[in-house]
Amino acid sequence: MRLSPSVEAIPRSGIRAMAAMAQGRPELLHLEYGEPNFFAPEAVRRAAADALLAERMVYTPTEGPAALRQAIARKLARVNGVAVGEERIFVTHGGVGALFASLASVLGPGDRILMPDPCWPNAVGQVLTLGAEPVFYPLEAATGFMPEPEAWPVDERTRAILINSPQNPTGVILPRPMLERIAAVARRHGLWVISDEVYDQIYFGERPVSMLDIYPEGTLAAYSFSKTYAMTGWRLGYAVLQPGMQGHTTKLVESCYSSSSMVAQVAALAALEQVEPREIDAMVDSYRQARDRAMEQLRAAGRHRYTPEGAFYLMLPVPQGLSSDDFARMLLEQKDMVVVPGATFGRLADREVRLSLAAGAENVVEGVGRWLELSAELGRAAR
Ligand SMILES: Cc1ncc(COP(=O)(O)O)c(C=O)c1O
Repeated sequence: MRLSPSVEAIPRSGIRAMAAMAQGRPELLHLEYGEPNFFAPEAVRRAAADALLAERMVYTPTEGPAALRQAIARKLARVNGVAVGEERIFVTHGGVGALFASLASVLGPGDRILMPDPCWPNAVGQVLTLGAEPVFYPLEAATGFMPEPEAWPVDERTRAILINSPQNPTGVILPRPMLERIAAVARRHGLWVISDEVYDQIYFGERPVSMLDIYPEGTLAAYSFSKTYAMTGWRLGYAVLQPGMQGHTTKLVESCYSSSSMVAQVAALAALEQVEPREIDAMVDSYRQARDRAMEQLRAAGRHRYTPEGAFYLMLPVPQGLSSDDFARMLLEQKDMVVVPGATFGRLADREVRLSLAAGAENVVEGVGRWLELSAELGRAAR
């Protein structure tokens, strides 16, 4: 019997494939996972533990409890500089759930969506699952991984644009003038912008601007507790929808997973209300330190190309003539380190491998050192 062709069309995750190759080898240097190397703050864990002992864990409202949505609205005003009523906030199963709630609320079979290449692959998988068609716009190292919105091929089937800032896998942040150029294209053609802002609080310079601020009438934004609070396993995020959309998205989310986990929602409320900004700053500082040291190392070796401004990733080039899969395998076999082949993120990114800056500065420095070594060895062999 036939399996779903739209699911069959989703490429296998290169991150999982690398992890499978590295399994059972604890001596390897792991730079593949996009995961903070911290516990969630103590207030979060304590609130969840107390609630588990004191309360029955039951279904919650599909869109999330009012108290949590109100706390999220306050956070959006304080952190992101956007005023959004609680009725526009939809609590979801992780940032990935927020992305799905947004995409599935507006896309249908045959619709086209402009998406970055490279792109976080789960977003591509969601679009394919919906029977929609990703149309990729290039982000290239030579232009600092910045898009050129005026060149995007918009046609009568195009419904939406996906952006992600700070970006996985490049670490690039889209500055305000770029968001304005993207908004101009969206306005001209009447397109939704799905703005993946799950790394909104992980940045090393100026605060990233939210697309909600630039294109308020057409943006659906996705956020998460995973990265800011080191809560990847708690699976909680939220979407900011347009006014009047809640009933529509409720039908969708109710059909998929009823409601998000209640204990995770208790933990998320504690994260918003009890975690001191300095606890978040300390985690971000550790990623910044890893980034800064990697940049120094690359500059010293004459191999610096760009500086990631947020999220916790760094793209490094693959030597001429090799695919990213081949090079990642060589790094594993010859240098005992695990990275993600760029091909996981798209066709153009096959010239890159991705390192996580969340693995601790010492590990990142070691990893960049091994990448420099192998690149130099292959360069000598090719001459
Ligand atoms: C760009 C991007 N969007 C969304 C997500 C999903 O976040 P979550 O783990 O909260 O589902 C991730 C996670 O890695 C991500 O990198």
